[in-house]
Amino acid sequence: MNDQKLIIFDTTLRDGEQSPGASMNLAEKLEIAFALRDLGVDVIEAGFPIASPGDFEAVQAVARQVEGTTICGLARCNSADIDRAWQALCDAPKPRIHVFLATSAIHREFKLHMAKDEIVRRAIEGVLRAKSYCEDVEFSPEDAARTELDFLAEVVEKAIAAGATTINIPDTVGYAVPAQYSAAIRYLKENVPGIDKVVLSVHCHNDLGLAVSNSLAALMDGARQVECTINGIGERAGNCALEEIVMAVRTRQDYFHLITPIQTRRLYHTSRLVSRITGIQVQRNKAIVGQNAFAHEAGIHQDGMLKDRSTYEIMRPEDVGFQRTELVLGKHSGRHALRQRIADLGFHLTDEQLLHVFDGFKALADRKKEVYDADIEALAETAIHTGPAVWTLEAVTCNAGSGTVPSAAVVLWHKDGTLCRDANVGDGPVDAVFKTIERITGVDVVLREFQVRSVTIGEDAQGEAQIEAEHNGRIIRGRAVSTDIIEAAALAFLQVINRALLREQLRMNPQTEEVIVS
Ligand code: KIV
Ligand code: ZN
Repeated sequence: MNDQKLIIFDTTLRDGEQSPGASMNLAEKLEIAFALRDLGVDVIEAGFPIASPGDFEAVQAVARQVEGTTICGLARCNSADIDRAWQALCDAPKPRIHVFLATSAIHREFKLHMAKDEIVRRAIEGVLRAKSYCEDVEFSPEDAARTELDFLAEVVEKAIAAGATTINIPDTVGYAVPAQYSAAIRYLKENVPGIDKVVLSVHCHNDLGLAVSNSLAALMDGARQVECTINGIGERAGNCALEEIVMAVRTRQDYFHLITPIQTRRLYHTSRLVSRITGIQVQRNKAIVGQNAFAHEAGIHQDGMLKDRSTYEIMRPEDVGFQRTELVLGKHSGRHALRQRIADLGFHLTDEQLLHVFDGFKALADRKKEVYDADIEALAETAIHTGPAVWTLEAVTCNAGSGTVPSAAVVLWHKDGTLCRDANVGDGPVDAVFKTIERITGVDVVLREFQVRSVTIGEDAQGEAQIEAEHNGRIIRGRAVSTDIIEAAALAFLQVINRALLREQLRMNPQTEEVIVS
C-alpha cells in the first residue's frame, strides 16, 4: 500500500489561544508562527481577524512575514468577517480563508435561531464570498459531530459546489467517540457528490480525552487533514495534540500508511516554546513531550533497556528532540557562539533581542559557573517577552526567618520615569514582595498558583517562577527566571501586573471586544 500525505493544520494561534489565560502578544505570536513554519506544518491558522484589532494585526503580520506555509484566517459566514479576514491575509503568498457556520440542531435552535434552509443559504453565500477573494477556502459546519448526518451531507455538498476546497468536520464540544466519528466521515465519503475533489479534515476537542483517538479513527476512513495544536492547548480541555497525532502516524506508519511533513526533532523545542509563551505547563507524564515521556523507572524496564532499547522504547527520545542537559557556553564565549546556539535552539531573535540575551548571558555567566541550553532558552524567552511595560523592577529585598515578621522592600520604575518605593509585611517573604508591588502599582490580583522550579541542574541553577493570577475575572500568567528566586518571583508578578494593565487599556477601547469560538 502506498503511503499518502496527511496535511497538518495547526491552530495553536487561534483555537489554542482560546485556552483561558493563554492570550499572546504580536511578538509572541510571530515567534510561534516561525517555530511552526520550521516544524514543517502545512497550514498555520493565525487567528480570527474580526475578533479584535490585535487578532487582525497578528494574522496580517504572520501573513506578511512567515513564508513557506499556508496562512489561514477564520471567519463566520458573513461579509464583514470574510472581508476582514481577506484584508489580513491578502499579502500571504499562500492564503486560506476558513469560514464556519454551526449546523447541529442545538446550535440552530438556541444559538442561531435559524431553520435548516437558512443555514444552507448562508453557508453557500459564505463560501462564495470567500472564494471571490481566495482560491483556497475551507468550510467548517460547526458542531458537525452532533449534526444529523443527512443534513450534514446536504450542507457539505452545497459548500463543495460553491467552491470549498477543504471540508472540516469539527467535534466542537468533544462529544464524539472514535467509531461514531469515523462512521460520520465514512458516511460523507459515501454520500456526498464531489467529496473526492476536496480534502476532508478533522478537528476534535478533548472534553472526553478522545481528541487524538477520534482524529486517528477518522484518518482510517479517509480524512487527510488533521487540525491540532501544540501541547493540545485550546478551548476548555483543548484540541487534538499535534505532537501526539504526528508521532502516532509516524510510529505506526505500518498501520496508518500516512506521512506528514513534520520535522519531529523540533517537537520538543516547539512544545517548550508554546508552554513558556502561554504559561501553560506541560504535565510531566504527557505523551511525547512530557518530562517523563522517556524516563524508565522500574528496574525490570531499565534492565531491558540496557539489553536492547526496543524492549521498552517505541520511539527514540532524540526523534522528538529531547536532549540531555548540555553544557554549552562559558564566561568567555563570544557573541557569535551565542547567536549560533540560539539559532540551533530554534529561536528567531531581532538584533535588539540578541543584544539583550547577550547582556543577560554575560551577567549570568558571572554568577553561575556553567550555562546550559535551558539557561539560554530562558534568556531568549525573556527577551521575546519583554514588551512595553508600565512597571519595571529596580530592586527587591526581603527579610524572613524564624521569629521575624517577613517583610519586603521594593523599588519600581514607572514608564513615565518616576521611581517609586515601598515596603510591607506578609505571611512570608514572597507574599510581602507581592503585597508591596500591589500597593505601589495600585493593581490587585488574586493569586491562583505560584510555582518555583530549577531551570537546569546544580546548586547555582536559575530558578523559574510561574504565576497564575486572576484579575477582573480573567486569568493572567507571568513567568520569569533569575538565580535569585525572590527576584524571579517579583519579576513574574510584575509581568502579571503589566499584563493586567495592558488588558485594562484594551478593554477601554470598545473595538477590542472579543468574539470567541471553539
Ligand atoms: O471547534 C470548532 O468547531 C471550531 C471551528 C471554528 C472550526 O474551532
Ligand atoms: Zn475548535
